Amino acid sequence: MSQIQNSNQYQIQWFPGHMAKTLRMMEEEIRNVDACLVLLDARIPLSSLNPEIEKIAAHKPRLYILNKADLADPAVTAAWVRYFHAAEAGCVAISAKQKGGTAAVKTAIDAELTELFAKRERRGMAGAKTALMLCGIPNVGKSTFINTFAGSARAKAADRPGVTRGKQWVTAGKYDLLDMPGVLWKKFDSPKIASNLAFIGSIKDDILDGEELAMNLLDEVRAHYPAKVAERYALTPETLALPPYELMEAIAKKRGMLIRGGEADTARAAVMLLDEFRASKWGRISLEVPPEREA
Ligand code: G4P
Repeated sequence: MSQIQNSNQYQIQWFPGHMAKTLRMMEEEIRNVDACLVLLDARIPLSSLNPEIEKIAAHKPRLYILNKADLADPAVTAAWVRYFHAAEAGCVAISAKQKGGTAAVKTAIDAELTELFAKRERRGMAGAKTALMLCGIPNVGKSTFINTFAGSARAKAADRPGVTRGKQWVTAGKYDLLDMPGVLWKKFDSPKIASNLAFIGSIKDDILDGEELAMNLLDEVRAHYPAKVAERYALTPETLALPPYELMEAIAKKRGMLIRGGEADTARAAVMLLDEFRASKWGRISLEVPPEREA
């Protein structure tokens, strides 16, 4: 478990039918691919690691791709890459949104598949295409990744979780990429995982209490990055130290978000806070640090 403690108590058990279907589809398709690219969110690598995908891909070479590294704390991301490498797992941190952002992935895939390539060479099949399954939770950046990886806008990037529904093959040079819809899992092991997924927008906001979510996010981030929160909302140390709901009220008032009677419009402030965090307006923030390894 992460060292970052979190007071959130979300009990989200959400598993739409199309996600169950996706998992079945993955079970069928896994035998048709050479390796799995597991896209994770660099801000929450473990919380975004779907245990169902781990099970399905257990016998395939895997490469873990920490996407959206441009949004995460660079020192923490570097620690995560070391964490995966220490477990002898292939891992690269990238920003799929940036031009050339996926170049490192191709090198890393080839490193993961040296055995397969040697085997093909021996069999005179060196030119064969490499089939890869791209998997990850909703909103982790799969469409964006494919666009950058394939070098043209083959897959349309969607702006909300769960929009990409069917699987599709995309050819990118010597690779054939099987794009799977984003998938969560049935039951989160801890409330922390659920809240982390909600913070970054991988669980649809409309099934969550926005004010509670924003308040908990604010509380979590100020515990680890107090200066970033204080700077973004020009807060004095006294205001920054307020209980979470009062802090959100203070920020609402500072932004002129008021309802009749001059009270803080916390509903509006919550939407603003989540939007600004997700758009990286608070700066580069990681919500999870690697667990201590047992000696
Ligand atoms: P999905 O297929 O896995 O559901 O994800 P998708 O590619 O649709 O990406 C979801 C959101 O994440 C998009 O933002 C996309 O631009 C953004 N994104 C993907 N990769 C990166 C990255 O490496 N860095 C950053 N900063 N953002 C990334 P959006 O707000 O929904 O759309 P838009 O901003 O592209 O208009």
